[in-house]
Amino acid sequence: MASKIQTLPGFRDFPPQACALRNYLFRKWRAAAIAHGFQEYDGPVLESLELFTEKSGPEIVSQLFNFTDKGGREVSLRPELTPTLARMVGANAGSLKRPIKWFSIGECFRFEKQQKGRKRSFYQFNADIMGEEGPGADAELISLCIQSMRSFGLEAEHFVLRLSDRTLWMTFLAELGLDEEASIRALSIVDKMERVDPDYTKQQLVAILGDSAGKFLDEVAAMRAVTTIDELDAWVSALGRDALVARMAQWRELWGILDAMGLADFCRVDLGIVRGLAYYTGFVFEVFERNGEGRALAGGGRYDKLVEKLGYAPLHATGFAAGDVTMADILESKGLLPSLLPALDCYVVYGSGEAERAAAMRAVATLRSLGISVDYPVKPTGFGKMFKQADNSGARLALIFGGEEVAEGKFKMRDMATGGEAAGPLCDLVDGVKMRLAHGIEKA
Ligand code: HAM
Repeated sequence: MASKIQTLPGFRDFPPQACALRNYLFRKWRAAAIAHGFQEYDGPVLESLELFTEKSGPEIVSQLFNFTDKGGREVSLRPELTPTLARMVGANAGSLKRPIKWFSIGECFRFEKQQKGRKRSFYQFNADIMGEEGPGADAELISLCIQSMRSFGLEAEHFVLRLSDRTLWMTFLAELGLDEEASIRALSIVDKMERVDPDYTKQQLVAILGDSAGKFLDEVAAMRAVTTIDELDAWVSALGRDALVARMAQWRELWGILDAMGLADFCRVDLGIVRGLAYYTGFVFEVFERNGEGRALAGGGRYDKLVEKLGYAPLHATGFAAGDVTMADILESKGLLPSLLPALDCYVVYGSGEAERAAAMRAVATLRSLGISVDYPVKPTGFGKMFKQADNSGARLALIFGGEEVAEGKFKMRDMATGGEAAGPLCDLVDGVKMRLAHGIEKA
């Protein structure tokens, strides 16, 4: 026997139940984005390799699904949408109305080690604002991120948005005497320090900072102990550096908007978040389960230099993405997944005579054209078997077109939950069915 061919590791089939769950996530994400005034866009899943090797940073580059196509081009499946968006907007910036508020839901591919919450193919909900410099745009995205989570029934007790700032970090590292390149290397070590052995972290930092690595780690510990805007203010004031104090004004503005929108309870200051992707420049954030379990549910931040790096006129940009895998996991673990497969309204059973079949098919077509969902056995069998199929279909009403009824110009309806039955004239099919779908039929 031939060996069974299976899905590739990290790729998924979506049979109806899984597909219904995926579509449910997409529906809620789309509705939240539209409610925030965002417009939907899409881009190609296959891009030139260069778009990602230059822009996303070494971690993502090591995870690319790249290959040489039959025309000899170096290409890659997209690991994220941000470089595509930056190119698309950069190329058309002159003709686009500002601010540009765009969202997309699309499949991404990363050659990652298989683990909980991580696949090699996954879907992301991306939302970005381009052409706005101030914290108002960051607040708008944080609002969309939080409100999209809330639309699934998740509340502040379930998740937290950890807010940090690459500008604050870069200013702080510059004050310590690090140039941009060393600062970026130091940040990528900080990004991973929660997950790796402390000795390894220290060794890596010594390579950049020499003897000051120990002192730096103490500073980082103090920074990471900060969890509120007031503690952040106190930490910045104690350092007494003008550049950091100036940045606090932006923090106050951002926090003020979040507070006014009733979102402050969902957010926590956490300078331990620096983000793995290389292009971030300002406020950054990640969303986690409140109890700290699992991988990030969403992440994003400001990336004011990316459009320019792709060769276009400079454009301010900020955005985030949420993933379907972690979102489905948290909804399931909190018992927040509704029943998702659409329920069938009617199942039609009919006699084997030509007149019954014709009357049944006319009814099927009429009801479907009005958006009432109807199924029927494509091959008529005995009534007993067809009623069993009606039961298995989960339909709320069985519509019966037997020889006797059709000869009298009638049809019958059975409420599959109560067993109650009612008859009606064929000329009253639509109203009769609508009324019974709304109110059911009591058993006599
Ligand atoms: P990211 O943090 O790499 O950011 O990914 C965002 C979200 O995508 C993660 O929080 C996670 O939910 C999901 N995700 C990432 N990798 C995987 C994976 N292997 N399997 C399942 N889910 C995954 C970005 O991609 C940025 N481009 C977001 C952004 C948009 N920044 C600005 N605009």
